[in-house]
Amino acid sequence: MKEYLEKIIKDRRSISEFSDRQVSNEFIDELIDLASFAPSSTNTQPWFFLIFKSEENKNRLNYYIDLGYEKLKNQLKDNNIISWTIFSKVADSFSKYWRFDKAPVYILCFARSYDKKGLSQIIKLSNNNNIENIANESTKTSVAMAMQNLLLGAYSKWLWTRIKDWIKFFLIDDEIKKQFYKEFSIPNDYSLISWIQIGYPKENKVKRVAFARLPIEKIRKYL
Ligand SMILES: Cc1cc2nc3c(=O)[nH]c(=O)nc-3n(C[C@H](O)[C@H](O)[C@H](O)COP(=O)(O)O)c2cc1C
Repeated sequence: MKEYLEKIIKDRRSISEFSDRQVSNEFIDELIDLASFAPSSTNTQPWFFLIFKSEENKNRLNYYIDLGYEKLKNQLKDNNIISWTIFSKVADSFSKYWRFDKAPVYILCFARSYDKKGLSQIIKLSNNNNIENIANESTKTSVAMAMQNLLLGAYSKWLWTRIKDWIKFFLIDDEIKKQFYKEFSIPNDYSLISWIQIGYPKENKVKRVAFARLPIEKIRKYL
């Protein structure tokens, strides 16, 4: 069991080239079930997963990404923040991070904000509004834990994944965010934490060797 878990943890890799093979809803439900066993802040289980499988809905997601990207470009251009040529070069080199890969399933992972009523007593007693921010940070941490369960669970079933975080930059625009939330009936107190692409790899397109990890001496300190 220990060796198996260690293998799953160490062999999991992010991939970008997925085959057309579909993933069944039963499989996805198993992953969501595993995600739901993650620890969560005061056991609030603040996660919600929006699963995109149909081409039509995936195209709608791409529409919002393009819209956000264009708007950001125009803002940068209007404000003369950086020269247009430099921006295009930078944007192009990052475009693989901005774009979805052609995966059969995208899972958008949301965190539900802390219940304000429950918190209001503590905020009143402590006289510090910052508590709400800190509480909401912990909901995001909870969702990240659930996401890791999902990633490892997927890999244990030979499903490969890649988180695509950068794409959520389109939400920096309030108007686009509003439209997006409305179209997919997402409650306003849900924050988009990240999204995960899932599928089977294209043959010979998996990179099994991990990028070198920082040595543990650099990432821990005993006190
Ligand atoms: C929070 C987070 C955000 C990420 N965002 C992106 C992204 O926007 N685009 C992308 O292609 N990969 C993204 N990744 C995947 C990382 O690039 C990848 O995990 C890292 O290079 C290590 O490779 P490995 O997952 O194969 O170990 C993200 C991963 C995490 C955990």
